[in-house]
Amino acid sequence: MSNRRRPPGGRSTTSPGNRERSGGWKSSGPPQPGNTCPRCGWSRAARKIGCGFGQQGRAGPCRTTFKGGSIFLPTERRFRLKLTDHPAEHREIYRSAAWGSALADGWVVSASGPVSIGVVGLGWPGHRHAEAILANPGARLYACADLGDQRREEFVRLYKPERVYVSYDELLNDPGVEAVVIGLPNYLHFPATMSALRAGKHVLCEKPPTLSAAEMRKVRSLADQAGKIYFFGRQSRFDGKTVVAKRMVESGRLGRIYFAKATFIRARGIPVGIGGWFLDRGKAGGGALMDIGIHALDTAWYLMGCPAPTSVTGQVFRNFERFVPERMKYDVEDGAYAFVRFEGGAVLQLEVSWAANLPDDSPTNHLGKRESHNTILYGDRATLRLSPFSLFEDVEGRLVDSRLEAEPGSNFAGQMTNFIQAIREGVPAVNSADQAVHLMEMLEGIYHSSEISREIAIG
Ligand SMILES: NC(=O)c1ccc[n+]([C@@H]2O[C@H](COP(=O)([O-])OP(=O)(O)OC[C@H]3O[C@@H](n4cnc5c(N)ncnc54)[C@H](O)[C@@H]3O)[C@@H](O)[C@H]2O)c1
Repeated sequence: MSNRRRPPGGRSTTSPGNRERSGGWKSSGPPQPGNTCPRCGWSRAARKIGCGFGQQGRAGPCRTTFKGGSIFLPTERRFRLKLTDHPAEHREIYRSAAWGSALADGWVVSASGPVSIGVVGLGWPGHRHAEAILANPGARLYACADLGDQRREEFVRLYKPERVYVSYDELLNDPGVEAVVIGLPNYLHFPATMSALRAGKHVLCEKPPTLSAAEMRKVRSLADQAGKIYFFGRQSRFDGKTVVAKRMVESGRLGRIYFAKATFIRARGIPVGIGGWFLDRGKAGGGALMDIGIHALDTAWYLMGCPAPTSVTGQVFRNFERFVPERMKYDVEDGAYAFVRFEGGAVLQLEVSWAANLPDDSPTNHLGKRESHNTILYGDRATLRLSPFSLFEDVEGRLVDSRLEAEPGSNFAGQMTNFIQAIREGVPAVNSADQAVHLMEMLEGIYHSSEISREIAIG
């Protein structure tokens, strides 16, 4: 399912309007009022948003000018919005009848100029997104919001957004915000995403996309209805290794992938977070699986080509309560182990834990602590491993080992670029709403299977 809606009347690409648009205005004589506009192709919608086609003395076809910029047609199936650099003036456009009726008709809006972004939730991921926004010429760090005074102050000092709000609702009411990045605690992902879409904003929401598959289906349907981009945060898909690995998989170098192994096990890494919400099932939706398990599962699944899951069996554990201060609520799992089957027959094994008594040959993370984090894809022609980044390939019956090189670049920056391109250029969102639904089905399925101690069907 696409994030985009169809043009008014759901015209097909073979409609007369489209033929005329692609071939230019070919009829004899000057265009007459009531005919199809040669630029926008759709006279009804064009008139609604002020297309001046066939009328003498107007600024040009398909254009309505406001103080804050202009709305103009056309590119195929979308109208463009050219904004001035003064967000306060944009309100006039968003409140205009032209804007309202064009949106109601399901036209896709394509604005020019940088996308004005608001970041809500200013913890570690909020900072990474801000850096990615500031590094992107197509984006502008317009606003931020956080309940915490210190968090706001630090963010403003470092990144200097133009507007500062306390709660995310206030930020969503600002018409100058075109897109929002949500880095709130997990239980707020669903309500904040829904409010943002209802307020007409594009959304990039941190992982997990929601707390359940049912919630994620509602998000997908609203994004689709509103014609807005929904994007879930999974920056590792844009990591230099993942990008190279994905290309190799798509080129067929691995052959048919029949098995993937995803591991993310920390020796001692139970997170506390602000207010301890990470350890509270009602607020986090789960423990290690929702926190780091989603990274491991998604990277392997993404590299497999996101096949539809058909069944899952899993078991979750809470083994390390002794590492959590007694005063804290702790009703989530600290370990999860699962096996997922996919359409086409491939399978995936997942091992995740915030805490484990890891052996001394385990790799260490950037803090020097034991941590086993890897993705291995087994294909009938080659096996690919992310850490160390290598390929084990069958060459005429011999097994040849090669070290691979990651592409340079930051994963948050790559993710932001795709989000901006999806908004401005209609490039498909790599982290799409459809995939977020499947991801939530798998996560939910693991918890369910663990509860009933049986394999369960998905989909
Ligand atoms: N992509 C990644 O690698 C990555 C890494 C860490 C966390 N995350 C995700 O990012 C999200 C945030 O994690 P965190 O570690 O920053 O958590 P955190 O608790 O440190 O920060 C959450 C922030 O949200 C603010 N907040 C809460 N309610 C609010 C409201 N109504 N309006 C405005 N602000 C509000 C809090 O004041 C807090 O500063 C989580 O969903 C987590 O899963 C992703």
